[in-house]
Amino acid sequence: MTDTTGNTSNGNIAVLISGTGSNLQAFIDAVASGQLQAKISLVISNNPGVAGLQRAADAGIETLCIDHRDYEHRETFDAALTNALQEHDIDLVILAGFMRILTAVFIEPYLGRLLNIHPSLLPKYPGLHTHQRALNAGDDEAGVTVHFVTAELDSGPPVMQARVAISNDDTPGTLAAKVHVVEHKTYPLVAQWFMQGRLRLTNEGASLDGEALPECGVQYPQEVSPTL
Ligand code: GRF
Repeated sequence: MTDTTGNTSNGNIAVLISGTGSNLQAFIDAVASGQLQAKISLVISNNPGVAGLQRAADAGIETLCIDHRDYEHRETFDAALTNALQEHDIDLVILAGFMRILTAVFIEPYLGRLLNIHPSLLPKYPGLHTHQRALNAGDDEAGVTVHFVTAELDSGPPVMQARVAISNDDTPGTLAAKVHVVEHKTYPLVAQWFMQGRLRLTNEGASLDGEALPECGVQYPQEVSPTL
């Protein structure tokens, strides 16, 4: 695969999960439909027996369980992850509900090739229980942020955000379901931009086609034209 700058990549994606893997499924479906031109070469879970591993196996994707409980230190767990990714020539790492805090041992070698999806409109509500916190605050909207991962938790440069309205009868569960719908639309789209060589992490933040992205990323769907 050759990107718009002439760089070549193998087009290999790894998806890291901890559980259900509905975002992984969105990637599997996007590859199958041709919306995402890449190969999901590896799925890694830190938890054994989760539904996401079965989704990967059903799609014929190689899976690995690297159980963090087998490692005394975060750094040695991260080194095991990094080794597995390097063995598979991974070009882009997709964190999709991967519930481990990563150290520099993992982040540094993959800086600029590491994306996460977070279920809030960052910088609001980094960390856990985002939907409950949005409801507690009386917010009238919630959403999702796809962002590059840097050393600080949930604070790397945003690439894309999508918003959903909060209604009076929403619970954390109903809100999570609404947000999942937009997660599944935005994340594969961002990955496709990356695989096309259009999306980069620069010293100034995220850039698309050589232009710096707005501080909160591209707003989906309003700012995503059909040609994007
Ligand atoms: C998603 O809400 C994602 O934003 C968050 O973890 C959840 C994973 O869901 N990081 P799934 O396993 O992809 O269904």
